[in-house]
Amino acid sequence: MNVLVTGGAGFIGSHLVTALAARGDRVVVLDNFDTFYDPKLKRETAARLKAELVEGDLSVEADVARAFAAVGPNPTVVHLAARAGVRPSIAQPALYAKVNVEGTSHMLEAARKAQARRFVFASSSSVYGARSNPPFSEDDRIDRPVSPYAATKIAGEMLCATFAHLYQLTTIGLRFFTVYGPRQRPDLAISKFAKLIRRGEPVPFFGDGTTARDYTFVEDTVRGITAAIDRPLPLYEVVNLGGSRPVTLNELVAAIEKAAGKKAVLEKKPDQPGDVPLTCASTVKSKQLLGFEARVPVDEGLQRYFAWLDSDEAKSWR
Ligand SMILES: NC(=O)c1ccc[n+]([C@@H]2O[C@H](COP(=O)([O-])OP(=O)(O)OC[C@H]3O[C@@H](n4cnc5c(N)ncnc54)[C@H](O)[C@@H]3O)[C@@H](O)[C@H]2O)c1
Repeated sequence: MNVLVTGGAGFIGSHLVTALAARGDRVVVLDNFDTFYDPKLKRETAARLKAELVEGDLSVEADVARAFAAVGPNPTVVHLAARAGVRPSIAQPALYAKVNVEGTSHMLEAARKAQARRFVFASSSSVYGARSNPPFSEDDRIDRPVSPYAATKIAGEMLCATFAHLYQLTTIGLRFFTVYGPRQRPDLAISKFAKLIRRGEPVPFFGDGTTARDYTFVEDTVRGITAAIDRPLPLYEVVNLGGSRPVTLNELVAAIEKAAGKKAVLEKKPDQPGDVPLTCASTVKSKQLLGFEARVPVDEGLQRYFAWLDSDEAKSWR
């Protein structure tokens, strides 16, 4: 299969590209080595991938066209590239809209022209907003986002639905629930906490520790994306990729302390605007449509993350 993966040099993308290349797919990556976190880390990762790299920006139509020319007709498209992160989107809403909404429009338009086989879009649990009644089901209302980032992901899903309707382009929005594992973005809690706890430095701890996340190990997320590439699909769907096992911040810190073999020094801070109190995926639809089940429990995932942190590959990430 010919697959175009945007954001392939990033955290989730690099794991997906590795899995696809290992099973014999031909993969083209579009990535601009964005400066949201150190591009050197992404360049090192990209150099290890078995994929053709097109260096370019999603929000530049000509760059998107180059990527589609490289992958050829009828590609499978997995659109992961985005400005990620909830808190920074509050400071730069226009930038998030440019990359995540305008960029996704360019991708969809190019996908339809290339008669793409299907278009898989990286959405997010953040579309559910600030809710405390789990589990979050794909049929629930999503019209109360609490960050510009979440709003751009809702817009991305809506654009996918529109292109499915107008052009019969098969599209699926996958709502990822807090993904973690090797090469996790340095801005996310687990990688931040792990680094600080190992160094014995204070760990910023927002709120009272009762906020909870449905953490998903990246290998599980990649299995879900691969199922969305392979399985027969209706014209348009959105599907959660989570495990329905939320872990509180207090529990997470305890689990990281155990995996790190060291106690955390906590620096208590107030709740952050844009953060939601809870994420918890309903797993009914992902099971039914994709045969998906998250398999890796947090304790095991953290052990595997720490083993990677000690590896040679992680030298620049420590
Ligand atoms: N990590 C999570 O927990 C999580 C949760 C929900 C949704 N998501 C979504 O999954 C996707 C991948 O996230 P990630 O955690 O791997 O992030 P990441 O930042 O590691 O990867 C994103 C990649 O996209 C590239 N990129 C950014 N802007 C670009 C542009 N304008 N043109 C071309 N490439 C660009 C970056 O250089 C990077 O390599 C994103 O769409 C994100 O919103 C992630």
